[in-house]
This record gives sequence, C-alpha cells and structure tokens, in this order.
Amino acid sequence: MSARILDGRAAADEVLAELAAHALRLARRPGLGVVLVGEDPASALYVRHKTRAAARLGYVQRQETLSQGASQDDVLAVVRALGADPDIDGILVQLPLPAHVSRDAVLDAIDPAKDVDGLHPLDAGWLSQGRPGLVPCTPLGVMELLRRTGLPLRGAEAVVVGRSNLVGRPMARLLEGADCTATLCHRHTRTLEAHVRRAEILVVAAGAAGCVPGEWVREGAVVIDVGINRLPDGTLCGDVGFHAARARAAWITPVPGGVGPMTIAMLMRNTLEASVRRQPVLGAP
Ligand code: GUN
Repeated sequence: MSARILDGRAAADEVLAELAAHALRLARRPGLGVVLVGEDPASALYVRHKTRAAARLGYVQRQETLSQGASQDDVLAVVRALGADPDIDGILVQLPLPAHVSRDAVLDAIDPAKDVDGLHPLDAGWLSQGRPGLVPCTPLGVMELLRRTGLPLRGAEAVVVGRSNLVGRPMARLLEGADCTATLCHRHTRTLEAHVRRAEILVVAAGAAGCVPGEWVREGAVVIDVGINRLPDGTLCGDVGFHAARARAAWITPVPGGVGPMTIAMLMRNTLEASVRRQPVLGAP
C-alpha cells in the first residue's frame, strides 16, 4: 500500500476561503492580537505565517513584539491591554516564552473568551469535560484533516504520542470525544511500539525526529505527524519515519505541508468564532 497524502496546504486554503466568506457577513472585522517575546527565529517565522493569514482574511491586527529581556510584568501588561481592547477578539501569545517569564502566569492572564489558542486553564477544563470553549489549534486542525479522510472515527483505536498541553493532551481528548478509544503515550511509556502497532489513527507530537519508525505503523492506518524537526543538512522532517510509514498507511501527512498550515487555519477559525460571540451577525433576525 502507498498512503494517500493528507494535503494540509490545500485543506487550509479551503478553510480560509470559507472563513473569508463568513467574515464578510459580520458587522465588524474580527481582531487578532499576537504577542511575541524575544528573538527566536522559529517563533518569529510562525508569527509571520499567522499574521499573513490574518491579513489575507482582512482581520484587524495588533502585534506586540517585546525584547528577550522584557519582564513578566511587561508581558502581563500587554496581554491585559489586549484583553481590554474592544476591537480584539483573539489573543495569541507565541510560545515558548523566555525562561524568566512564567508561562502559566501569562496564559492565566488571557481573557478565556479571547483565548484563541485554547491554553487558558478554563478553556482546557471545558475541553476536558466536553463543554463548549476554545480548543487548541493544532489538535483542531488534526480533527479537520481526519474528517477529510471520510473514515469513521467511532470505535477506532487512536494513539497519541506526546502529552503537551498544546497538542497531545487536547488531541487525546478530542479523539475520545469523537468516540475513538484514545491512548496517550509519552516518554515514559514502556511499550510504545506495541501501542503504535495497534493504532488505526496515529498522531505523533513528540518533537523528536524519527522517534516512531515507519515499520511500526499498522497496515491501513491514518498517520498524522505533528513533528517538525530540522536535520543537520537543513532539511525538515517529522517525528515518523515517512517512507516506511507511507508504504503501510492508508493516509499520511507530509512534513512540511501537513499539520502546520491547518494550525494556522484553525487559529483564524477560532478568532472568527470568538468574534462572532462578541458581535451581532448582519441579516440575523
Ligand atoms: N509554539 C509552537 N506552536 C504554537 C502554537 O500553536 N501556539 C502558540 N501560542 N505557541 C506555539
């Protein structure tokens, strides 16, 4: 078998086109505030991709760029000002933050109604209880890619590798919410290979190149590789051995061009959703 490619760029383009049409029906343009602290080139690149997508949709934007030496109070002040700004519906604090700034303190300061990354403990708690709220963008994007395969999720064996608050934990919760049997594996899982071998849906977000050899992939599985790693020769690769996995799977995401573009599309969707909740829709009764 040679897996079909789950093309995240094409799917993200479709989502963005739908969002653009929806945004036109709003009385006020959605607003996104982005906070970037420090000079990490990867973070700066991610933020550029996000602001480019927001510009394409005509969203109002505020970008707050603070130096690596900014204090925690400086960051908190910016986050609170965006929370109080009536034109801003969504706030994104790009992670990681410098070591001297408490990530928890900053995420706790985001208004949960504007938390378009879904990282505030209230949004995470609502997700864990299956209640409506804003959901982290990468796992949302993965669910959208899975939906596009047309395969039934109910009862499927889903295995997630990696337990970050950004991806792994909310991912397992969303899969369980879609009636999969979801197993969350992490660096201390002793039988990782056995879990991977029985996965009908495999989502890997461990951040380590090739940590899941493609030979472990079950015949006919859907493989979603969230990892993006730069090799010494400068090329990018995911967490899963791509070629061997592709020979066994039914569907697989490429790296790059798989999950990454969907994360950005879902950030735009969350921002629109947060905005809709804060304004009337034109033509509504
Ligand atoms: N750093 C890497 N990915 C992400 C993301 O999806 N959101 C935020 N805020 N920071 C990140």
